[in-house]
Amino acid sequence: MNIARGRFASAVTKLGPNNHTLFDTTCQPLMPEAEGFTCSEDGLSYTVSPTPQECGSDVVSDPWEWWAEHGSPRYALGPMAGCTAMPFRQLVRENGVGLTYVAMVSAGAVCYDEDTKNRMLADIDDTRDSPVLVQLVGNDPSEFAGAAATIPRDKVAGIDVNMGCSAAKAHKRAYGSKLMTEWPQVIKIMQALRECAIPITVKTRVFRSVERSVALCQLLVREGAVCLCVHGRFRDAGRTYSAPVEVDILRAIVQSVNVPVIVNGGVTSLQEADALIEKTGAAGVAVAHRMLANPALLNPTPPPPPALCQSYLAHALAYTTDVSGQRLYLNETKANVYRILRNTLKTRGLVEAVRKCESVPEIDSLLREEGVY
Ligand SMILES: Cc1cc2nc3c(=O)[nH]c(=O)nc-3n(C[C@H](O)[C@H](O)[C@H](O)COP(=O)(O)O)c2cc1C
Repeated sequence: MNIARGRFASAVTKLGPNNHTLFDTTCQPLMPEAEGFTCSEDGLSYTVSPTPQECGSDVVSDPWEWWAEHGSPRYALGPMAGCTAMPFRQLVRENGVGLTYVAMVSAGAVCYDEDTKNRMLADIDDTRDSPVLVQLVGNDPSEFAGAAATIPRDKVAGIDVNMGCSAAKAHKRAYGSKLMTEWPQVIKIMQALRECAIPITVKTRVFRSVERSVALCQLLVREGAVCLCVHGRFRDAGRTYSAPVEVDILRAIVQSVNVPVIVNGGVTSLQEADALIEKTGAAGVAVAHRMLANPALLNPTPPPPPALCQSYLAHALAYTTDVSGQRLYLNETKANVYRILRNTLKTRGLVEAVRKCESVPEIDSLLREEGVY
């Protein structure tokens, strides 16, 4: 099958006896003059449009205008739970990134737990970090809507639905990438979020079948997603970040929807980021785990690691969180400092000394006293 030839959806597939096996095992060859094809998932039959799917959002009339209003960000920092609180996002912004995510927070926890809600709200500040998307994870439409209602819409570019997390517990509890096969539920979540009158974006992964991947992405756009971020690895790649990225499937998705698509996966340098955009025709590229050790990966003139760490800690010193978040945040700061300075903290003793610090100011003082910067 050569989906990358041109018109992504000029294909006909026959429905097999079992809808769930159809797309992985019995894909038919593309037929250029066909009218699109039908795709079924979890009991829902969906006809794929042979022309790029228009966005069904009620709040954003033109997703490309929405994108331009936010500076048409070519480079994004992929969401990374436990690593990307605002100081890190500020750091990457100073180094070429134009779009960030407030990393994954449980929609249910935002609804029912004041501490989680307050920590999330403290991590949103459009004077320091904008445009930003707040990523929610869950599977209950009313929880998504309840969480969305707490988010100050004038401070964020939108709400992102996590459909990419492939941790074992995500599958067990039917959220994250498990939603990729639960289309009726996804539609309910999108409809609940649409009631909140806030732009919706979705981060998802690809299936092995290009048709199934295209069908899912079109469905998301039809249901109101104004932007997609697509991680070009399969769900079963889990957290194996060395698995290949399906560039042809990403390109087919980009061609199949009339909204900005951010492609994601496997980028290790600025050149590779540009190459992935070039190969897929995407509006932007998101880089994740490689940014942790090198927050200046997308900066053509990167500062040396000690200078990066100094800027990071300057932002971290100005960051406030509630008491319950302090320990979490201190651990995140130490891990980020360690990753940035991995090749600079030459002695085992210094690494250990950072690990033992009890506060962010203490880390900063230690690194100054040791002449790291
Ligand atoms: C430590 C870590 C935490 C992550 N947390 C999230 C998350 O909260 N939400 C999400 O959608 N993806 C998450 N991801 C996945 C990344 O956003 C990204 O899709 C993936 O790492 C592939 O991009 P990369 O090859 O540039 O790392 C996480 C990845 C890492 C390494």
